[in-house]
Amino acid sequence: MPRVLISDKLSPAAIEIFRRRGLEVDVRPGLSPAELRAIIAPYDGLAIRSATKVTRELLDAAPNLKVVGRAGIGVDNVDVTSATARGVVVMNTPYGNAITTAEHAIAMMFALARQIPEASASTKAGKWEKNRFMGVELFGKTLGLIGCGNIGSIVADRAVGLKMKVAAFDPFLSEKRAVELGVEKVELNELLERADFVTLHTPLTEQTRNILSRQNIARLKRGVRIVNCARGGLVDEQALFEALQSGHVAGAALDVFETEPATDSPLFALENVVCTPHLGAATAEAQENVALQVADQMADYLLTGA
Ligand code: MLT
Repeated sequence: MPRVLISDKLSPAAIEIFRRRGLEVDVRPGLSPAELRAIIAPYDGLAIRSATKVTRELLDAAPNLKVVGRAGIGVDNVDVTSATARGVVVMNTPYGNAITTAEHAIAMMFALARQIPEASASTKAGKWEKNRFMGVELFGKTLGLIGCGNIGSIVADRAVGLKMKVAAFDPFLSEKRAVELGVEKVELNELLERADFVTLHTPLTEQTRNILSRQNIARLKRGVRIVNCARGGLVDEQALFEALQSGHVAGAALDVFETEPATDSPLFALENVVCTPHLGAATAEAQENVALQVADQMADYLLTGA
């Protein structure tokens, strides 16, 4: 009977699926890297979210391992090259949390447009600063979408529903799909020059790292608002900080940071910045979806494919 170790906090639904499919499953979240290395040897499968780092050292200690299942999208916490070299399959669940993450991006856009977190803090402090918080409408504004895949296309759909004009930069977006989504496919420079809001929906790769670089931030329209619920490292945080201070960028909403956990950042001191702690996928529905999907996929592989 294949053995699976769940080393991050996963919905109990996943455990149920593994057991129902006849796999033996142990749940040990919160182990240190050394503790995990010490117990990994007998396992055929490792189910993770983002906390477990699947390094070369961990893989070296896992001679039986056949599959790593990431309940979520990004596999940046897995050394995929080393896993592949050892014949370990790395799988993710690219669809289970897409709606949730897209909704967070839309929520962040509203939060920025209407300064909701600041206004809430001020009201709770008993200030009633009705004249301080003048917002902007999303209606009629141009949303520059960097990345129009699983999540970006859902953001596009919601933004079109809000009567925004959506300009999407994505080398993998076909003209046909753009038409279906009601978005305009544009090059990055055009997006930078036209967008009132920019949202990012790409993985962090060598091609996308610093896609909002200092130079590209300077190309953005004055007064633009930026939302990043994708990955830290897509935006040059220092350049963003300076652009926010100068007013070139009117606001930024960040769910992800170059270094996580982000417990200290000059950005935290700015009023026109809204931050959340990588909550993009944090809904009950999404966590259930990704847990169910990863358990089924891993069971399929271990019972028939490995
Ligand atoms: C993902 O890659 O699925 C999201 O960023 C969620 C997460 O890592 O927690």
